[in-house]
Amino acid sequence: MHLHKYEKIWLGFGVFALIVFLSVVGVSAFHQGHTPSGGHMTIDPENVRGTAPFDEPGVHQREDGSYEVVIIAKAFGYEPSEIQVPVGEEVTFTVTSEDVVHSFSIVETNVNMMVVPGQVNHKTHTFSEEGSYLIVCNEYCGSGHHFMSTEIEVIGQ
Ligand code: CUA
Repeated sequence: MHLHKYEKIWLGFGVFALIVFLSVVGVSAFHQGHTPSGGHMTIDPENVRGTAPFDEPGVHQREDGSYEVVIIAKAFGYEPSEIQVPVGEEVTFTVTSEDVVHSFSIVETNVNMMVVPGQVNHKTHTFSEEGSYLIVCNEYCGSGHHFMSTEIEVIGQ
C-alpha cells in the first residue's frame, strides 16, 4: 500500500494528538483523582425525607469541628430556606433534589453543582469573608425557575 507523504504527516499528527489527549485524561483520572461528578452516593428519590441525612435538612456541626449543610432542592426553592455558617470554617454542602433536576450555585464561589434526583452531591467550601451570598438554580426546572434562589449568611465567630 502506498501512502502519500501528506497522508503520513496527518496520520502521524492524529496518532500524536490521540496520545496527548489520552495522557491528559489518564493523568487527570489516575494521578489527580478526578472523577465524573455525582454518582458517589444514590438514594431513593421517592423517599428523600426518610433517608439520612435528608431527614434533617439544615446546618450540622461535625465532630471534627467542620460543618455540613444538608439541603433539599425542590421546585422552586431550597430547604432549609435560612442557612447560617461561620466564616473561616470548612463547610460541606450535601445536596439532593426531591423532584426534577436543579442546580446549587453559590455566586462568587466555586460551588456550582448539578442537583439530580436520586443522587447526592457534595462540595466543600471555606468562606473567607462574612456577608450574604446568593444561591441560585442554573438548570431550567420549570415555570418558577427564575425565582429559585435563597441566601446563605456567613457570620463572624
Ligand atoms: Cu431549580 Cu431552576
